[in-house]
Amino acid sequence: MNERTLVAQNLFQVLSAYLATNEIEQLLEKPKSKDHGDVAFPTFILAKTLRKAPQVIAKEIAEQLSSDDFEKIEVAGPYLNFFLNKTKVSHEVLTQIIEEKDTYGSATTGAGENIVIDMSSPNIAKPFSMGHLRSTVIGNALSNIAQKLGYQTVKINHLGDWGTQFGMLITAYKKWGNKAAIDANPINELLALYVKINKLAKEDPSLKDEARAWFKKLEDGDTEALELWNWFKTESLKEFSRIYQLLSVDFNSYNGEAFYNDKMSEVVDLLAEKSLLTESQGATIVDLEQYDLLPALIKKSDGATLYITRDLAAALYRHRTYDFKKSLYVVGNEQAGHFKQLKAVLKEMDYDWADQITHVPFGLITKDGKKLSTREGNVVLLEEVLNEADQRALKLISQKNPDLPNPELTAHQVGTGAVIFHDLKNDRLNNFDFNLDEVVQFEGETGPYVQYTRARSISILNKANFKPDKAINYHLEDAESWEVIKLLQSFPEVVQRSFDKLEPSVIAKHAIQLAQIFNKYYAHVRILDENSEKESRLALVYAVQIVLKADLALLGVSSPDQM
Ligand code: ARG
Repeated sequence: MNERTLVAQNLFQVLSAYLATNEIEQLLEKPKSKDHGDVAFPTFILAKTLRKAPQVIAKEIAEQLSSDDFEKIEVAGPYLNFFLNKTKVSHEVLTQIIEEKDTYGSATTGAGENIVIDMSSPNIAKPFSMGHLRSTVIGNALSNIAQKLGYQTVKINHLGDWGTQFGMLITAYKKWGNKAAIDANPINELLALYVKINKLAKEDPSLKDEARAWFKKLEDGDTEALELWNWFKTESLKEFSRIYQLLSVDFNSYNGEAFYNDKMSEVVDLLAEKSLLTESQGATIVDLEQYDLLPALIKKSDGATLYITRDLAAALYRHRTYDFKKSLYVVGNEQAGHFKQLKAVLKEMDYDWADQITHVPFGLITKDGKKLSTREGNVVLLEEVLNEADQRALKLISQKNPDLPNPELTAHQVGTGAVIFHDLKNDRLNNFDFNLDEVVQFEGETGPYVQYTRARSISILNKANFKPDKAINYHLEDAESWEVIKLLQSFPEVVQRSFDKLEPSVIAKHAIQLAQIFNKYYAHVRILDENSEKESRLALVYAVQIVLKADLALLGVSSPDQM
């Protein structure tokens, strides 16, 4: 049980006439300094009801409380400061972790409910960008976190595989394309074609007309157009899957934009039935002025559908197919307007589930202070970044531990894990500059630091040949171990909080803190010294490695036992 619930339940014994347990729990505070105990209860709220000064109330409550859950309860003016019983709590926490192992922190809150996560969703024929990396790893972490709480998740890769840009690409290919070159290096070649035609089209508008015509053919099911489009898509997916394999991320569905081609007329009909469509300069729109939003453009003047039309069809399809509790869209903050429009249109359509749709935005990654842009050719090739990270990790590992078996696998877990961890450790809305030197480091707040701390705890356990035994009464009372115990104890709450905020950084920060506090413990306490506490100290080390591994697993980062 977490410390707040414990304190609340004790206080409820005395305050049941005035407050419910959960109300008490919400009032509890975390004391600013460790000297003031683990949890504090401010009594102000009772002053009016009891017609007494808070100081008096605090004293009276303290006199009525008696429980072996606490070492002591101190009255500090209007506050009651609770000092948890370290012997009891440490015993409970260690025993629970030893019993539950990998399932520690799991819950059944989400049982029977589906959460849909629209994530990664790169555009075919374009490089997989750092932004898509963010979407992939944030989405994957949110899926892991939701699953830990018992939800079923559906990870959807909403591929950008439709739209007028494919008219541009087909036109460019017909004019300048070379099949062999594309087969050899698909995304780079296709990107070059795309950049070239965009540049030339600025001078020569007829290219745009040609592109429009090709896209129209594509939408009408023309064989040649479809064949080219399919080829571009297959080749792109080959490259993307290599990246997903490196990241160990998989999907439940690859239904991208094109999947909704035959599902959009339904949306347009529904919008018309509900009298939501208006004409504007030849285009068909949904007016969203009352939401203070730009109109949603449903159809262009030539009848072509748009990004939001496909997203409306997708939302309807997902609701029908997965009956979701929540439908998340892990997409960069620059698309916030789009998702506001999407939600507003669904509201206008009177779908009560529109509120279950949530855009999970994230900030921008820059490189050397500059914005990355596909169209300008300022791109970072993700596969190269991951390979470079693995190489650097290999170098570091070979210096530290030249005898390590299978160093390549460990280097991949550390290098790629470092990139993922770095992406997830800051609040997702923060922008950051990507610098591999900072990412692959054994010191500082990095993934390798957490992994290394865990690997070292495994080696301590091996040295001592420790086997946890839940029949043993492990317990610790010293101040250093208490800090570790409290971080172990808070793990289930941390998981819940990261889910509530849809914020994987809450987990990453817990991992960093636990690793730091554990290293402090390790520096102060001679774990392997023979005395009556030794087994309990080893049980603590054992619990720490379980929770560090669980933290990393939620983030989608592996934990090598040796490094
Ligand atoms: N393909 C889009 C892009 O790269 C992201 C798609 C996000 N998902 C969605 N349902 N709109 O910008």
